[in-house]
Amino acid sequence: MRRPASCCNRLRPYRVAVPTRVRDLTDPDWWRTAAVYQVYPRSFADGNGDGIGDLTGLIDRVPYLAGLGIDAVWLSPFYPSALADGGYDVDDYTDVDPRIGTLEQFDELVAALHARGVRVVVDIVPNHSGSGHRWFQEALAAGAGSPERARYIFRDGLGEHGEQPPSDWVSHFGGSAWTRVPDGQWYLHLFAREQPDFDWGNPEVREEFHRILRFWADRGVDGFRVDVAHGLTKDLREPFASYPRISRDVLKDDGTDVLFDRDEVHEVFRGWRTVLNEYDPPRAAVAEAWAAPSRLPLYARPDELGQTFEFDLVLEPWDAVAFRRSIENSLERARAAGASSTWVLSNHDLVRHASRFGLPAGTDLTAWLMSHGTEPAEDRALGLARARAAALLLLALPGSAYVYQGEELGLFEVADLPFDALEDPIWERNGHTDKGRDGARVPLPWTPDGPSHGFGAGGAHLPQPGWFAEHAVSVEDADPASTLNLYRRALALRAELPAGDGARFADRPDAVEVVRDGGWRCITAFGAPTVLPEGEVLVSSAPVGDDRVLPADATAWLRDPA
Ligand code: NOJ
Ligand code: CA
Repeated sequence: MRRPASCCNRLRPYRVAVPTRVRDLTDPDWWRTAAVYQVYPRSFADGNGDGIGDLTGLIDRVPYLAGLGIDAVWLSPFYPSALADGGYDVDDYTDVDPRIGTLEQFDELVAALHARGVRVVVDIVPNHSGSGHRWFQEALAAGAGSPERARYIFRDGLGEHGEQPPSDWVSHFGGSAWTRVPDGQWYLHLFAREQPDFDWGNPEVREEFHRILRFWADRGVDGFRVDVAHGLTKDLREPFASYPRISRDVLKDDGTDVLFDRDEVHEVFRGWRTVLNEYDPPRAAVAEAWAAPSRLPLYARPDELGQTFEFDLVLEPWDAVAFRRSIENSLERARAAGASSTWVLSNHDLVRHASRFGLPAGTDLTAWLMSHGTEPAEDRALGLARARAAALLLLALPGSAYVYQGEELGLFEVADLPFDALEDPIWERNGHTDKGRDGARVPLPWTPDGPSHGFGAGGAHLPQPGWFAEHAVSVEDADPASTLNLYRRALALRAELPAGDGARFADRPDAVEVVRDGGWRCITAFGAPTVLPEGEVLVSSAPVGDDRVLPADATAWLRDPA
């Protein structure tokens, strides 16, 4: 039975009064050690009951966000968009999608977060716009050879009548990366056809993005997450070089790859840094760059973006040696750049890690999703234990930690979304062989019941499973042992504990032991239990008995004895 809207709207059981430490918003180095919470706005909270998350919903939940103990909120795109790619097809970079809210509400959100010492990071999507963008519409209307087309990558086709695409380049989402327009030319899109790639060789494009950065920085935005940072510049010399497959094993690591991570892209980001440094404190930025590991530090250099996402851990199996090696490599890369590292377990593009860790190592996740999460079976107890342990480990490392909405509730992937509910372009563009990323984008549960588990007074734009009830914010809030309260405790400690800059690893079989400069340590037991050394246990992801045995698949933080 549907409840009247007012019942769920007004109760607000998630409004918990958690005292928060107000942070110094003038600190120019805040991003180096920040805990950043990623909000996927369409799936966070719905203020007007139309099934789509919005800014009113977000403003309403500011106490929840501040109560988590995070330093910043990163908002995935909220701009006007035809939603061909969940908002990463931006039709106007300096406005808010009317279904999500208004610029005034955006200002209100920033003010409310700032008042509680929480900074705001917005997503910038510079590789491509949406096809509804004014520039792209002007390019279509203006015709071949026009300055309007020169903002994008339009070319004549091959073959006698130009009926073949200009090259064999493919889209990340499947199929050709070229689409033909009615006058016969083709345009490049490395993602969906509704995402035409800009030509970053064109100074007008560079200037426009400087304007966009200033627009948001002037509104008080503290930082930017840079989408597909490695993709902006391409080798457009003709005839185009062949590049029929996008894969890590063909990506060159010397700056001369045809499509990705080319040397010229760094000139673009040096320009961005000049703009970001016009502000006091300078605005922060983090690159989403899928480049060869040796080249990731380039994006993080102080005269470029400052930080780059490290995704290595996302690919690692649950194994002490693999985790330690991956963490050490990331720390080394950050040192090389003069930056600080970043830690990620989940985001809106990945299968949620509580599910990944509950599947046998090496599981083909695309096939698993196609089986609606049945083949192989997921061991949820194991997955959640490891997810909690991994979160505590990452939060103990030097650098910034990125937390994706819902991971603080221990959410699993919604692997059984029906095919006809899918929104991700990956589904259509791959001929219905890949369900894509919607299983990590299902609207959050705030209450155990209600029409959309408290997400809003109406439904949810992706169907929520019944088991979301057990993970609802109000349920976890009331349970001291919940994953939500584990994150809160760890985030509060992270802000309080003396950290220094560094960390070293102690040797411990089948466990990772990180010793922080400030005199505390974090121990993660992987395949087998381990006995904890002396010291007060500050927080642990599973109970530690009087025998001081930390069970397998668990993490504990300890304060060293004085
Ligand atoms: C990376 C974003 O995280 C993803 O969601 C998007 O589909 C692509 N970039 C294209 O913008
Ligand atoms: Ca809404």
